[in-house]
Amino acid sequence: MTPPRHNLRVDGSRLWATIHETAAFGGTPAGGINRLTLSREDGAVRDWFRDACLAAGLEVGTDALGTQFALRPGRDGARPPIAFGSHLDTQPTGGRFDGVLGVLAGLEVMRSLNDAGIETEAPLLLVNWTNEEGSRFAPAMMASAAHAGEFTTADILSRRDAAGISVAEALAEIGYAGEEPVGARAIGAFVELHIEQGPILEAEALTIGVVEGGQGIAWFDGTLTGFESHAGTTPMNRRRDALLGLAELALAAERIALAHAPSAVITIGEAVIAAPSRNVVPGTVRFTIDLRDPQAATLDAAEAELRAALGEIAGRRRLEAELTRIWRKAPVPFDPRLVDAVETAAGALGHPHRRIISGAGHDACNLAGIAPAAMIFVPCRDGISHNETESATPEDCTAGADVLLHTVLALANG
Ligand code: GLV
Ligand code: MN
Ligand code: MN
Ligand code: MN
Repeated sequence: MTPPRHNLRVDGSRLWATIHETAAFGGTPAGGINRLTLSREDGAVRDWFRDACLAAGLEVGTDALGTQFALRPGRDGARPPIAFGSHLDTQPTGGRFDGVLGVLAGLEVMRSLNDAGIETEAPLLLVNWTNEEGSRFAPAMMASAAHAGEFTTADILSRRDAAGISVAEALAEIGYAGEEPVGARAIGAFVELHIEQGPILEAEALTIGVVEGGQGIAWFDGTLTGFESHAGTTPMNRRRDALLGLAELALAAERIALAHAPSAVITIGEAVIAAPSRNVVPGTVRFTIDLRDPQAATLDAAEAELRAALGEIAGRRRLEAELTRIWRKAPVPFDPRLVDAVETAAGALGHPHRRIISGAGHDACNLAGIAPAAMIFVPCRDGISHNETESATPEDCTAGADVLLHTVLALANG
């Protein structure tokens, strides 16, 4: 591998300007972003991104799931491109950095190479993956998973949001149903820069996380059904209150996660009373469960414990319970050679770093199934993410983009 060109750096102030310019698409009064995948705001930021890539001389394409690709040719067109990027969609109460940083730092890498007149051996490919967040359409990271062959395109196109709109309809609505077949592009390696979304780097005063892998994720849809009845006349001991069943389940889930501490985390992020009314005992509640752990065995054990708890609660409270696992992503180890390349770049640039496991899901975890993949983390304030107050410093974003630049150069010229 060629040693890093220590003198080359990204333009940190240009990167910072693009982060704040694009934050206007779906910007919220609290300073965050609400840019759900395939929304009008997502369409607008995609248009901005396409135009910026074209202005940087990149060859732009879109696949049938709306994923945007921007290619910078290399000297050896026969080599599969070294790919990098992330996602431009956000949570409904998202911040300015989750996903956005990885895409815009990738754009900054392309711009910096152009400015320096540097050609690479392998082509470079910048990617904006559709629906990383999984908030509007499940599962998360669906386009990269389809690219890696985990789902068919037809399956993903037929997924619907809470309003009944399909992925196919949403893509057509914003003009991003592309021509390229999903997965058609060869990818030689994939590197993703992202904020850590957790507290470790900040607590240890480190600039770079060298990500060794991503933890496992299991998503569930659940329903508890009891009986709707009069809030004023139904004695407490005759009720079949679905919400109370869910309340017990939520506390059981916390106990189960704590029993597998510190690794396992369990979240009930959506909970809806089917026909809510102040003076009706809740008859049906629908809920989601997000369960994560770095070990597949713990993921499975915690799932079994959740199911047992749900069965016990439902039986005792005379409720009917349903729990469907709609997604399982096994823990993913990243490619040791690529992880080393990230570490080498961080070291050569003089940035304090450590190895780390990702608690969040990332498109890189899907790409790892078909190509060597790795990630670079930078700290975020108080470890907060999936929140409008999410924040990262310009210095750390620049450092992450520099590590991305030198990792990509080493891979493309190695
Ligand atoms: C998406 O951001 C996830 O990690 O769940
Ligand atoms: Mn993200
Ligand atoms: Mn996210
Ligand atoms: Mn994520």
